[in-house]
Amino acid sequence: MSKVGYEGQVYEVLDDESVLQCLHRNRVAIPSSCGSGICQSCLMRVTEGKVPESSQKGLKKSLKKRGYFLACICRPEGDLEVALAGDEIVHRIAVRVVDKHKMNDQILRLRLECLESFEHKAGQFINLHRSDGLSRSYSIADSLPDNILELHVEYLSGGKMSTWIHNELQVVDLLEIDGPHGDCYYSANDQKQNLLLIGTGSGLAPLVGILHDALSQGHQGNIHLFHGVLDFSRLYMVDELSQLADTHDNVFYTRCISGDVVPDGCYAGFANSAALEQYSSLAGWRLFLCGHPDMVKDTRKKAFLAGASLQEIYSDPFEFSR
Ligand SMILES: Cc1cc2nc3c(=O)[nH]c(=O)nc-3n(C[C@H](O)[C@H](O)[C@H](O)COP(=O)(O)OP(=O)(O)OC[C@H]3O[C@@H](n4cnc5c(N)ncnc54)[C@H](O)[C@@H]3O)c2cc1C
Ligand code: FES
Repeated sequence: MSKVGYEGQVYEVLDDESVLQCLHRNRVAIPSSCGSGICQSCLMRVTEGKVPESSQKGLKKSLKKRGYFLACICRPEGDLEVALAGDEIVHRIAVRVVDKHKMNDQILRLRLECLESFEHKAGQFINLHRSDGLSRSYSIADSLPDNILELHVEYLSGGKMSTWIHNELQVVDLLEIDGPHGDCYYSANDQKQNLLLIGTGSGLAPLVGILHDALSQGHQGNIHLFHGVLDFSRLYMVDELSQLADTHDNVFYTRCISGDVVPDGCYAGFANSAALEQYSSLAGWRLFLCGHPDMVKDTRKKAFLAGASLQEIYSDPFEFSR
C-alpha cells in the first residue's frame, strides 16, 4: 500500500484510490472540481517519489518536468511526498459580479468583471472559487468589453455551487477565478472549413462564444449549431440564435428536444443524432462538443467513424465528481 505525505502528515492510499480521494477521505482540504483530470483545479507537485505519467495528462511540458500532477487522476505506484501548486503556477484573480440574469428557469447568465487583466478566448473555461474553498469550472460564453466575462450556470438540484450561485450570490460580491483553461475556442487558421457545434444544456455557453468569435473574424465556411435539451422550456437564446441564422447565409441552428413533447421547428431526439443524421460524412470538418460527458464521448467516437480527424475535434465534457 502506497503512502502520501502532505504538510507533515502521512496517509495510506487505499487500493485504486487517487491521491485526491485519499486526502479528502482524511479531511484534508484540497481544491477540486471535475474529478477526472480536466479542470486542473487539483494541481499538486511531487517533492519526493515519482508520479505515474498518466497523472500529468494535459499539463505543459515545463510543469511535467517540475513534478506537477493532477491529484484526482494520480494512483500512486510508490510512496510520495506532495505539496499544493503555489500561486506562481495557479494565479487566481479577483472578479466582481456585475450582472445576474435568468435566461430560463434553469440557466442563469452571470457577468463577472475581472479586477485585473485576464487574457482568454470565448469557449475556454475558468475555475470559479468560493471563499470557503469550493471550486467549479464554467465556460466563457462571451468576452465583453471592459474585462467582463459572461458565464451560463445551469441550476442543478442539490448541486453545491450552482444552487449557491442561483440563490445566494449577489451582484457586487467578490469571487476568485483561475484560468483560462482548455482549447475549445475558435481560431481562424482555415476560414473556409465547415464547423459543427453540438452542445447540451449549458454546453451552449462555449458554443455561443465560438460562434460569435467565428463570425466576428469573418469565417466563411458553414457553421451549424445543434443545441439539445430535455424539454422546450430548457432552450435559451432561441431568438438571438435564430436571428443569427436568418441574417448569415453560412449559419444554421437546430433545436433538439429529447423529451416526449416536441413542438414544430424542433428536432425530436438528441442533438448528436440530429447532427450525425444530417452530416453522415465529416471528413474535413472541425467539431466542437460541449456539455454532458456521455454525449461528448459518444459523439467523438461517432464523428471519428464518420471521417472527422481527431485533431479537429475540440471538446469540453462538463465532468463532475461522481
Ligand atoms: C470544463 C468544464 C466546463 C464546465 N462549464 C460549465 C458551464 O459553462 N455551465 C455549467 O452550468 N456547468 C459547467 N460545468 C459543470 C460545473 O463545473 C459543475 O459541475 C456544475 O455546476 C455542478 O456543480 P455543483 O457544485 O452545483 O454540483 P455538485 O454539488 O458537484 O453535484 C451535485 C450532484 O449532482 C451530480 N451532478 C453534478 N453535475 C451534474 C451534471 N452536469 N449532470 C448530472 N448530474 C450532475 C453529482 O454527481 C452530484 O451527485 C463545467 C464543467 C467542466 C469540467
Ligand atoms: S483535474 Fe482534478 S479535479 Fe479536475
